[in-house]
Amino acid sequence: MLKGKNIILGVTGSIAAYKAAYLIRGLVKRGAKVQVVITPAGKEFITPLTLSTLSGAPVISEFFSNRDGTWNSHVDLGLWADAMLIAPATAATIGKMANGIADNMLITTYLSCKAPVFVAPAMDLDMFAHPSTQQNLERLRGFGNRIIEPAEGELASHLTGKGRMEEPENIIRILEHFFKEKEDLQKKKIVITAGPTYEKIDPVRFIGNYSSGKMGFALAKVCAERGAEVILIAGPVAELISHPNITRVDVESADQMYEAAMATFPDANAAILCAAVADYKPIHPREEKIKREVSGELSLQLTPNKDIAASLGAIKKDNQFLVGFALETNNEEVHAIDKLKRKNLDFIVLNSLREKGAGFRYDTNKISVIDKDGAVSHYPLKTKQEVASDIVDKLATLLL
Ligand code: CTP
Repeated sequence: MLKGKNIILGVTGSIAAYKAAYLIRGLVKRGAKVQVVITPAGKEFITPLTLSTLSGAPVISEFFSNRDGTWNSHVDLGLWADAMLIAPATAATIGKMANGIADNMLITTYLSCKAPVFVAPAMDLDMFAHPSTQQNLERLRGFGNRIIEPAEGELASHLTGKGRMEEPENIIRILEHFFKEKEDLQKKKIVITAGPTYEKIDPVRFIGNYSSGKMGFALAKVCAERGAEVILIAGPVAELISHPNITRVDVESADQMYEAAMATFPDANAAILCAAVADYKPIHPREEKIKREVSGELSLQLTPNKDIAASLGAIKKDNQFLVGFALETNNEEVHAIDKLKRKNLDFIVLNSLREKGAGFRYDTNKISVIDKDGAVSHYPLKTKQEVASDIVDKLATLLL
């Protein structure tokens, strides 16, 4: 489960810092790549040399490298990681994390990290029990961080109680379990359409729409991270994506998107139709640029595009699932249910343009999901990445 995973291990100034050596050994043995970030106090308890020898990579501690003045980019590190584990985490580090006090490399890395964060506290029993520590931990939980509860036992102070960092092998087991659960879509193939389509008027003009592709790309990322093989059929968008499980097929027009979807869906387990496909295309796109007429109006004759969702719905087998989207401005649920039925979808994700922060070009979205049987679930306003996880959770229940 940990093979090929990139793990940032944050080490802080606790007597339990020596256990970081066992953590690195266990993680590396299971095929993970470990990058250690240590606080200045952490270096008092274990040497960077020990940690870098075990991890096979220089330990990062300072913002700048003393020798040549190069900058250690916490941003790059935060993006590189599949998980960040802070073990041991002292009360001071937990307090800084809870309040965004970015005065060392570990905290800046934590603030830049997009991956799940695990925190294994280590401290004296009274420090752990103090309302300040407990409140800070509660805040971290609220941020979505996972707290690995300390065990009861003898502490460095020779007192006995709760505060001893969880044993390295148990921490590794928690990480393994997390990645195993996360990969629930392994061996599933999912086709995703994303972005707008451009329908050519002449060599320099098109009919298009404001879709950014963000929602479809977020869905592709979540599916790929959960182990699915993803075919991402993207209209013209500025979004970038890179994941070994994702094959990106760039298209421009609705016809090209239709061909790509029809070719890839038959051996897929599911398709998520997130693209804002242009409903119409010019019947006769011009070979040459249309010149501005001296006077008079210009008429374009349009013909409807093929409905990709409905075409996939028509060939869908019992063991295949289709998810559609509906962006509505009025009578939202009625229109969405009509689309669900017309296109033979298994569920439809409804965003209303009336909701603030939902729809095209926003980084957030507010959705409702409507089932085949008409059951409606409403979700709060979330980032598109979080919304993607909710949608994939729902799809996963059908696929498993
Ligand atoms: N869709 C599609 N192919 C099309 C049009 C729509 O695959 N040619 C998909 C969209 O990706 C979305 C769902 O169908 O998942 C609903 O799209 P929408 O544009 O809301 O529906 P339309 O059928 O085009 O209805 P209308 O424009 O009248 O609201």
